[in-house]
Amino acid sequence: MRPRVTLIGAGPGDPELLTLKAARALAAADVVLVDELVNRGCLAHVRSDARIIEVGKRGGCKSTPQAFIEKLLVMYAKQNRNVVRLKGGDPFVFGRGGEEAEALRAQGIEVEVIPGVTAGIAVPASLGIPVTHREFARGVTFVTGHTKDGAEPDWQALARSRTTLVIYMGLRGLAKILASLQAAGMDPATPACLIENGTLRNQKQRVATLATLSGEGFAGPALIVIGDVVRFARVEAAELKAKAA
Ligand SMILES: C[S@@+](CC[C@H](N)C(=O)[O-])C[C@H]1O[C@@H](n2cnc3c(N)ncnc32)[C@H](O)[C@@H]1O
Repeated sequence: MRPRVTLIGAGPGDPELLTLKAARALAAADVVLVDELVNRGCLAHVRSDARIIEVGKRGGCKSTPQAFIEKLLVMYAKQNRNVVRLKGGDPFVFGRGGEEAEALRAQGIEVEVIPGVTAGIAVPASLGIPVTHREFARGVTFVTGHTKDGAEPDWQALARSRTTLVIYMGLRGLAKILASLQAAGMDPATPACLIENGTLRNQKQRVATLATLSGEGFAGPALIVIGDVVRFARVEAAELKAKAA
C-alpha cells in the first residue's frame, strides 16, 4: 500500500461542527498533527494509544516551521502509520492545505482530503447572517487581510462587487481595510461586523458600519463581515446563548 496522509478540516471551533467522516478518520489514526486553531474537543475522537503532535503556536511559543511539519508527515507516512493532519476550518481555505498536499505528493505520499466547515460561513451563521441572501448580495467573497507578499487586495473591485465580503485575518489591519473600502467608493453606512472566537462559548461580536466599526477589545481569531446581509445579525440572541452556556 502507498503511504498516505489524510488532511482534515476540523471546522470553525465548536467540536460538534466536525464532520462524521472526519470523526471516523480521527478514530482510525495512529498519528495526528494538530494546528493551533483546532478546538481540542475534536481530539476526543482520537484513540488513547495514538500519538498527538501539536504543531501550532500556543502559549506564546513560535509555530513549528512548515518544512518541519511536512518532514514529520512524510516520516510517519513512510512508516506506514495512519497519519492525519488536522487543520482549523477547511484545510483549503486560507489553511495552507494546498501547499502541504503538494509537498506530500511530491514525496510519493497519497493525500486524502476531508473538507471542513470554513469559519467564513459558519461564524457569520452563528449570528444568523446568511452570507448570500439573494435579495442583499450577489455572492460572497472570501478575502485575506494578510497576504504572503504584503500586497493589497483590489479594493476597488471588491467595493463594486456587490458581494458580501468575509475577511479572514483582518483584525490587525481593520482600520486600513475599512478606510480602503470607503476610499474605493463603498458607502460608509454599509453594515459591518467583527466576530471573535465564532461558534465557541467565548464568542464576541460587534455590529456597526464601515464608518464606525472598531476592533478595540478584540484579540482574535476574528472575522470581518461587510455587506447588507449583516443587518440579519442577531447579537442579543447570541449573547443570551453565550450567557446560558
Ligand atoms: C489561517 S486562517 C484559517 C482559516 C480556516 N482554514 C477556515 O477555513 O476557517 C485563520 C483565520 O480564520 C479566521 N477564523 C478561524 N476560526 C475562527 C473563529 N472561530 N472565529 C472567528 N474567526 C475565525 C480568523 O480570521 C483567523 O485569523
